[in-house]
Amino acid sequence: MRVGLCGLGTVGSGTVNVLRRNMREISARAGTDIIIEQIGARRDNPACDTSAENVTRDIFDVARNPSVDVVIELIGGTTIAKELVETAIENGKHVVTANKALIAEFGNELFAKAEAKGVNIAYEAAVAGGIPIIKALREGLGANKIEWLAGIINGTGNFILTEMKDKGRDFADVLKEAQELGYAEADPTFDVEGIDAAHKLVILASIAFGMPLQFDKIFTEGISTIEPQDVTFAEELGYRIKHLGIARQSDSGIELRVHPTLIPEKRLIANVDGVMNAVLVKGDAVGPTLYYGPGAGAEPTASAVVADVVDVVRSFSAAQETKVAHLGFASSSLQDYPVLPIEEIETAYYLRMTAEDRPGTLNQVTQVLSDSGISIEAVIQKEPAAGESAVPLILLTSRAQEKQLLAAVESIEALEAIQGKIAHIRVEALG
Ligand code: HSE
Repeated sequence: MRVGLCGLGTVGSGTVNVLRRNMREISARAGTDIIIEQIGARRDNPACDTSAENVTRDIFDVARNPSVDVVIELIGGTTIAKELVETAIENGKHVVTANKALIAEFGNELFAKAEAKGVNIAYEAAVAGGIPIIKALREGLGANKIEWLAGIINGTGNFILTEMKDKGRDFADVLKEAQELGYAEADPTFDVEGIDAAHKLVILASIAFGMPLQFDKIFTEGISTIEPQDVTFAEELGYRIKHLGIARQSDSGIELRVHPTLIPEKRLIANVDGVMNAVLVKGDAVGPTLYYGPGAGAEPTASAVVADVVDVVRSFSAAQETKVAHLGFASSSLQDYPVLPIEEIETAYYLRMTAEDRPGTLNQVTQVLSDSGISIEAVIQKEPAAGESAVPLILLTSRAQEKQLLAAVESIEALEAIQGKIAHIRVEALG
């Protein structure tokens, strides 16, 4: 079986190295020898030696090469990568990709094209790096109605939050290290502003609930607004702050949201640190399950790419209707469930405000919350530092609808005793 690999960056070079090193095991699992027929890359990468390979500088040569059976797309982005995948499909080739943006934004049309042509697009490496979460969700949990899932699905963001918490390091400095280690996206704002996690969550939610990919509906908030003091106050309250992607099915629709979240520190997922990812999936039959592993990096991602090559090779002779569908559910049975606007979701909240230290302030704040039907679960207030008249006031609230909470926050901000804006972070029990 002949593969053509496009893109020789971090994941591309990792894939070549893993394929070469473990060729005996990989071929034995695939049931046939796997040969790298051609590599398409604009430039060489010192991380892997391709002197013995057929290398072209035009990646489209690979998609059109009649000797190539499977095209591995590892160039990233959604313009040339989309054209490349379409060309590969038109030429009757199966595709393996690690490109979450491409699948999240254009997966619906690409899957339809692939199915019409009788080929597969495999994308395990697109979500949570080396964790076989697509396989687990799509096949391993095939008996379940999935109730919800929540995941730490951006390695760079988790690496930054962990280093800030454990070592008090500076945000920009940790991000630079993540870039050097090959974890970060070409545009690192995708990592820190939650876009990368949103791409991945949309894919997971579609597989979990059986719905077309709806990237334009997801609510996204990044980690750049998290202050070191929030990390410290959260710890004092028995919580960790993690950047989570959350998808939940309810009678009124689907919640689809990516944002920083306080999680009780006793939860396993609260202790997932560094570049590691984890996805918690609650199925009605199995209950809660947790998948953990490296979410970025050359060989962890290559591990998923190569597993997909084996899968595609094994399904070569299968009829289209007997193959595992791209989103797990047959495309004719996908349901266009409504995605709930963020104002409609209900969760608990962490609020941090700066309050004047004078009689009645706390009373006024709690009165607004009580008038809104929001209960207070915990409070932290310290004595003012010498010479200061204002203090940080931290509240944990009961569950409330987001629009109700935001209205209460606006009223509290209008109080004379409250200075500036109130920081609010959502809190999830994940129990
Ligand atoms: N930039 C991504 C991350 C790479 O940090 O998780 C893996 O998708």
